[in-house]
Amino acid sequence: MSRAWFISFEGIDGAGKSTHIEGLSTWFQNRGYRVTLTREPGGTPLAEKFRELALHESMDPLTEALLMFAARREHLLNVIEPALARGDVVLCDRFTDATFAYQGGGRGFDWSVLQSLEKMVQKVPATELRQPDLTIWFDLPPEVAAQRLSTARVPDKFESQPLSFFQNVREGYAKRMQASPKRFAQISADQTREGVWTDVLHAIEKAYTA
Ligand code: TMP
Repeated sequence: MSRAWFISFEGIDGAGKSTHIEGLSTWFQNRGYRVTLTREPGGTPLAEKFRELALHESMDPLTEALLMFAARREHLLNVIEPALARGDVVLCDRFTDATFAYQGGGRGFDWSVLQSLEKMVQKVPATELRQPDLTIWFDLPPEVAAQRLSTARVPDKFESQPLSFFQNVREGYAKRMQASPKRFAQISADQTREGVWTDVLHAIEKAYTA
């Protein structure tokens, strides 16, 4: 691996991606890479303020989509692009596929408007359309996720959505993967932690040798 890599992690709430993202950060660092570990919405002081609003205030779907993309623009220009320019491995807990899955799939918001916003927001000096090099999708049946979440912390605005919302989010991810199959690695999150970790490493190795 000789260049900066941008890896995003996706999945419905309760899919258990956070543990593996931290594990991967250590895994890369042990191999001598510099890692930028970050998340969306968030990753900068301003984008974290947007996150607070997006996760806890109710708002109209377009406002919500704009807020996600506003946070993304801020994060991209101030954290992701500088990190890639330095040659870091960027591990990002959610990126633009989450907007398509949650706002597009979950909320049923106009997919083509999201595509226009994506083109605008992810156009940066280094490239016409910044996208992750690899997106690892922790796929989990929504019923299983709901069981896991019922014992977790107090749910935020998205986590407290009904099962049907997460079924639509899952379909949103599937649609995104269909449009960019090479970028996506779909992993079953409905297995032991060790099993998921093995699949994560396999996805990384496969992407790096491709
Ligand atoms: P997290 O809890 O995994 O950090 O994600 C924050 C929540 O925000 C999660 O429920 C998914 C949601 N979200 C969107 O609805 N749209 C987006 O574009 C992003 C990045 C997250």
